[in-house]
Parts: sequence; C-alpha cells; structure tokens
Amino acid sequence: MSYQIAIDGPAGAGKSTIAKAVAKKLGYIYVDTGAMYRAMALYLLRQGIRADECEKISAASRDADITIVYRDGLQQVLLNGENVTGFLRTEEVGNMASASSVNRDVRLKLVELQRELAERENVVMDGRDIGTYVLPKANVKVYLTASAACRAKRRYDELTEKGESCDLAAIEADIVERDKRDMEREFAPLRQAEDAVYVDSSDMTIEEVIEAITALIR
Ligand code: DC
Repeated sequence: MSYQIAIDGPAGAGKSTIAKAVAKKLGYIYVDTGAMYRAMALYLLRQGIRADECEKISAASRDADITIVYRDGLQQVLLNGENVTGFLRTEEVGNMASASSVNRDVRLKLVELQRELAERENVVMDGRDIGTYVLPKANVKVYLTASAACRAKRRYDELTEKGESCDLAAIEADIVERDKRDMEREFAPLRQAEDAVYVDSSDMTIEEVIEAITALIR
C-alpha cells in the first residue's frame, strides 16, 4: 500500500511550497492537483470557452488529455502531449481554474488521475478536496490556512519581487472571491476533513510549518 499525505486549504496558504518540501524530505512524490485544474482551464481558454458555458466545458473536458510526468523530481503537466507547466501560474488561468473546477465532469476526470497516481506511489498531494473526497483514507491529513490579509500580502510580495506592479487590496478581494467559490461549490467543495489537523500559518515561517507537518507524520 502506498502512503498518502493530503494537504488542503485555500489559495495562497503556502500549500505547494510546504507540500513540495515535505515530499522532498520523505522521498515521496509531490502532486500539485491545482496544476491539473489549471491545465484544464488553459485548454478551455484556448478553445475560447467562457466560465459560464457549462455544457461546452463538459464537452471540451473530454478532449483534454492531461498527464503528469516528473522531470528532475519536478512535476510537469502535459496537455494533449504539450508541456504547459510554464503557462499555468497566471491570474487569468487561476481564475478560470477556480470557475471551471465547479464542473462535475472536469472534477471526475481529474480525480481519477489523482487517485491513480496515489495508488502507485507514496504521495504528498495538495488541493482543496484531497482529504475529503479524493483520498478519504489518506494516512495524514492537514488543513493549511492563513488569514486572507496575510495570504494577499504574501502574494503581493511575491509579485513585487518579480518586478510586477500590483494592488494589495485588489489581490485580497480576488482571494476572498476565490475562497468563496471554492468553499461554496456544490460538488467536493473546499472544507476541512473531520480527521484533518488544522494549521494556521499566518504567524508561522515556512520552516515552522514544514517542521509541524513533519512532526505530525512522524
Ligand atoms: O491551488 P491552485 O490555486 O493552483 O488551484 C487553482 C484552482 O483549481 C482553485 O481555485 C480551485 C481548483 N482546485 C480544485 O477545485 N480542487 C483541487 N483539488 C485543486 C484545485
């Protein structure tokens, strides 16, 4: 049996940084499920489909072949054979991913891929519904969150560091809207699993969070 660690939480809580580091420490593979929803969103955007076109999204999702491969230990996402990893982390793709991930057909397709990966390998998987829906029997479940203000500030610092100009209030508003959509969708919404450990990283450093989660696993 493979060993499964599920890390869920809202956008910008630091899940991917933490999950990646924990996976490296343990020699497990890191599965970023958000990147799969983003690849699907990229496909929909390229097809000119809008977030409110439910039937078109369902139909198009059948034609998007999403595959995960690992290169030098890093997850790469292939969309119909093309490596699209470098195109996924934009606000446009993130917002479309949040909107299109409410679609049941999109979710069922990607959940199947996630479960296959977790059956074959020891994984640290992060997302929104891993502990509640994708891997309900995961060995360790963490719900990692931080205040919206704190998540917005981290994102703001990240963008400013890259030399991009941005507005803190707009980033926070975007985060609050994304949380609401992820938490209020009908199918597999973001919520803390009953057996998940709640970690609020607002006043913690990355190292402290990694240490707390590694201690839980031990
Ligand atoms: O974690 P992220 O920002 O890369 O995720 C992008 C969007 O994908 C997020 O707003 C909601 C969706 N998502 C999801 O519905 N379920 C997951 N397990 C992961 C992401």
